[in-house]
Amino acid sequence: MTKKRIIAYNRLEKPVLEELKSKYDVKFFKNINTKTDKVFLDYLEKTEGIIGLELEVDKDLLVNAPNLKIVSNVSVGYNNLNLEELAKRNILATNTPDVLTDTVADTIFGLLLATARRIPELDHYVKSKQWNDPLESEHYGIDVHHKTLGIIGMGKIGQAIAQRANLGFDMKILYNSRNKKPKAEAKYNATYCSLDELLKQSDFVILITPLTEETNGFIGRREFQLMKKSAIFINGSRGKTIIEKDLIESLKNGEIAAAGLDVFKIEPVEHDNPLLNMKNVVTLPHIGSSTYETELKMSELAAKNLVAGLNGEKPPSLINTDVWENIKPLVSKKTIDK
Ligand code: DGY
Repeated sequence: MTKKRIIAYNRLEKPVLEELKSKYDVKFFKNINTKTDKVFLDYLEKTEGIIGLELEVDKDLLVNAPNLKIVSNVSVGYNNLNLEELAKRNILATNTPDVLTDTVADTIFGLLLATARRIPELDHYVKSKQWNDPLESEHYGIDVHHKTLGIIGMGKIGQAIAQRANLGFDMKILYNSRNKKPKAEAKYNATYCSLDELLKQSDFVILITPLTEETNGFIGRREFQLMKKSAIFINGSRGKTIIEKDLIESLKNGEIAAAGLDVFKIEPVEHDNPLLNMKNVVTLPHIGSSTYETELKMSELAAKNLVAGLNGEKPPSLINTDVWENIKPLVSKKTIDK
């Protein structure tokens, strides 16, 4: 029997890739131009499944993928997928929620601490042998404990951040989210408030919403100007949820004090991005979920989703349940090759 064709893209942990290779005809691509790469486009034509990170699955790609049954993201975010175009073609889409929740919360809270206490800057100060005299106030940071944290986006990761902040650092939690979260309110003493109120009252603002049409450019100059001048802004969502040039202006003009960024409008971040020259900005290379343990769990879950979809079964973390409802009656025993 000929093996089913699979495309793996950008990131998939090795043991999982090897396991898939034993079952399927898998080709791994990394950082190619998917609009023009001939090998990719030829391979795509007969591909039944795609697994990987941040492949732009849009109409152009789907037109060239007539046999595609499932796209399995190795990420919780799925702003790279055009769900409307996938639905038109009855193609399943999956992601990797839950397994990364605590890891991302650790990273984002770590970024907050690093920014408030200026850890990367002071690390550089020590290693570059500038520490020759007793420290003075120009090197001080600001306290995190007992301050007010505003969380925009109170999904699972937002709640895991609230847990750390409230139970570990005695912080007061404000949040803004599409829906109120009574359980989080009770567990972490979190208070729902309007976006503007959250921005005005918080010492730290963490943005952790998914990128959707609604959240594209959600935080711009108006929002930065509403924040306290002493506020620290942390972005753990996607670069495009903020207007990056507005953040740069607000930092330059002292409208907010500092920023910690795991994500950028363009990734990898462009080398001439002004944010890279700002002492009061701490940067990470979009690494929120990337620990050895969690990347492996994400790859394993993504592979489970992929295999289920290819076998005509409901994947464990399906995004587009409407597509599954459409195809369920059509999935015949013939497609199952367990
Ligand atoms: C996620 O899982 O969405 C992470 O941000 C990696 O892209």
